[in-house]
Amino acid sequence: MAAHQHTAPEKRRTGIDAWLDERIHSGKAIDFSLNHPVPLHIHPMDYLGETTLFIFVSQAITGMLLAMFYHPVAQTPYFICTTAQQVAAQYCPAVGAVSPSEAWMSIQNIMGTTFGSLVRSMHFWGNYFMVVLVVMHMLRGFFAGAYKYPRELTWISGVALLGMTLGFAFTGYLLPWDMKAYWATQVGVNIADTIPIVGTPLADLVRGGPVLTGATLGRFFAIHMLLLPAITGGLIGLHLLLVNIQGVSAADGLVVETDQGETLQQIPNVPEAAADSNSRFVSGGRPVGNTGFSTAVQPGGDVDTRADRL
Ligand code: HEM
Repeated sequence: MAAHQHTAPEKRRTGIDAWLDERIHSGKAIDFSLNHPVPLHIHPMDYLGETTLFIFVSQAITGMLLAMFYHPVAQTPYFICTTAQQVAAQYCPAVGAVSPSEAWMSIQNIMGTTFGSLVRSMHFWGNYFMVVLVVMHMLRGFFAGAYKYPRELTWISGVALLGMTLGFAFTGYLLPWDMKAYWATQVGVNIADTIPIVGTPLADLVRGGPVLTGATLGRFFAIHMLLLPAITGGLIGLHLLLVNIQGVSAADGLVVETDQGETLQQIPNVPEAAADSNSRFVSGGRPVGNTGFSTAVQPGGDVDTRADRL
């Protein structure tokens, strides 16, 4: 058995865990997700994936709330606001003003309440946090050599997740339907348009026609709200399944039975020099020898499991 497939001792189930296990045999699945070895002295950088996941969940919740108040409509029924009723119906900011789009006004209305502005700001800044965290998580994976055998599939699913994250950012940017959103999207779609052969059909597809109109807003809204969350949800499930099967890389080959009890193995496939610098990275800068990731856990120490950390 590979070292990372260390099996936790049979656990006595209590409460809801026992209740569910008796009915739907959920115990094994719960153990699989929560009970696998991770290094005792894990570095904060190793949690960037979890941090990204936290922001993703926050984006999903705040996004659902925003969708209840946002109108994906580029036009308004009036061009110049002429009556107080139009203002009262929230189509216009004031009598005599040029009427803005319904999409823009709906966001103004969201921002007009304390809770609305909190939720919208969380969603707005969450987007930037998510992009930065995904890139940091990716860099950590790169510099720790976590993309190498046997985690190539985790890396590939991660690259797809990076694409999804950028897709969320790009499609979400248009939704306020103001000048900045409109022209920034125009530039983005025009760049895609320049790709030989596939560029123009692709640009027409996302635009919903040859020019950027209300059809584009509807299309971006559907992509942002339905298509990307569905694909991203599936990809995150796959990504986490792969991480669970293999354990985080610092934990790879973690536990090996030796004469001195449980001790650790070096990560396979990482050259000695890289392993040395990686192990400093993973062990939080504590001086280590050239024993690679093994120093992330004290030799002879106990095995920490995810369940222990919860
Ligand atoms: C929505 C975006 C993403 C989410 C929610 C996510 C989530 C996670 C989580 C929770 C883990 C396990 C613990 C950890 O290492 O932090 C993980 C591991 C990993 N992720 Fe991601 N990830 C995302 C994007 C990416 C990207 C863009 C890449 C690289 C292109 C990537 C590559 C990896 C790799 C290689 C591992 C294994 C790390 C190891 O074993 O040390 N992930 N991810």
